Amino acid sequence: MTTQDSIILPKAVDKLRDEFPILHQEVNGHPLVYLDNAATSQKPLSVVESITNYYLGYNANIHRGVHHLANLATEAFEKTRKKLAAFLNTPDQREIIFTSGTTDSINLVAQAWGRMNVHSGDEILVSMLEHHSNIVPWQMLAQEKGAVVRVIPITPKGEWDLTDLNQLVNAKTKIIAVNHVSNALGTINPIEILIAEAKKVGAKVLIDGAQSVVHFEVDVKALDCDFYCFSAHKLYGPTGVGVLYGKAEVLEAMAPYRGGGEMIHTVSFSGTTYNEIPHKFEAGTPNIEGIIAFGAAIDFATSLDKDFVQSHEHELLRYATEKLSSIEGLKIYGESENKVSVISFLVDGIHPYDLGTLLDHQGIAVRTGHHCTQPLMEHFGIPGTVRASFAVYNTIEEIDMLYNALLKAISMLK
Ligand SMILES: Cc1ncc(COP(=O)(O)O)c(C=O)c1O
Repeated sequence: MTTQDSIILPKAVDKLRDEFPILHQEVNGHPLVYLDNAATSQKPLSVVESITNYYLGYNANIHRGVHHLANLATEAFEKTRKKLAAFLNTPDQREIIFTSGTTDSINLVAQAWGRMNVHSGDEILVSMLEHHSNIVPWQMLAQEKGAVVRVIPITPKGEWDLTDLNQLVNAKTKIIAVNHVSNALGTINPIEILIAEAKKVGAKVLIDGAQSVVHFEVDVKALDCDFYCFSAHKLYGPTGVGVLYGKAEVLEAMAPYRGGGEMIHTVSFSGTTYNEIPHKFEAGTPNIEGIIAFGAAIDFATSLDKDFVQSHEHELLRYATEKLSSIEGLKIYGESENKVSVISFLVDGIHPYDLGTLLDHQGIAVRTGHHCTQPLMEHFGIPGTVRASFAVYNTIEEIDMLYNALLKAISMLK
């Protein structure tokens, strides 16, 4: 970072914080310091307003109407598909399927692709870093089909250990399902290596991008993965909506996931035919306002200067790592050189829940617990961690507040 940048940055962040009224409040008599961004990001005014505008101005069901409001709603809804296609860099909007979030996207693939293509003795490869939502759907599929879930181990730094890659990815591997960024440790995983390896054996690859898209750009065509998914709510958008990108030829060959309205072409008691992709996978009335607001979130995310986001988040991570590492008895979990602005840690002899509670008393919001990664916590032999996750609207001053609050909490608990 240049001297000039370091002068400009705080002003840019102040301006950005004006877009997030929720940040300007007190909690327990202290200014709110929101460091739980990996759980869900805060929402800018433009996203909140897009929901109000829909309900106040053009609330109607989509696709099936001929009237004015239905056309406005359909147009706004489909605009989000177009924005998402551009965001992920696919020219084909049919490859964008709306879901209720990352979990729903993964279940869709496990059921609609998995039940057709995974058979007894086949292997499904995940990693030790996965969120439960990228473990359990595969276990359910494996149990039903008599398949095996194999796990990529990790190094002490919290990176994939790919020493035995050519055994992990083999002729029996049908799908590799891994996250791009670990929610518990922040590690950015070298997914390109696995995608290349999968191609050698004809396996499909699903990337769980829940924690990546808010931090850096993703190009599904350059990656050449089969599926990529994420939730809107970790990218400034609302809860309850998300996306599944899938290669058109793979989606076309898949059976529908849920049956109902919208996903059909014709229905009769002598037989039903299905709609084209993406609608084949979008049964029922969707979360219309959520998807319209997802579009506003994409607009917000793409309006941010990429270099600014990267350099500011990098500086937050560097500064927080330096400060927290100086605290006696504090151990950071996840020490990859290649990580996003997430710090998971424990302090000797103190339960993460107690630390989280005392931080909250000082206005600081962090996450404590297993972060839906129980196998990873078991691997480290710990009950959970305290996780501080920084967004572009966080400041260096907030890290100082975290540091001071931690010292106070530790002195009270020891
Ligand atoms: C890496 C990862 N995958 C999946 C999920 C599940 O996302 P959602 O609950 O929005 O479906 C999360 C949420 O924390 C996550 O961090």
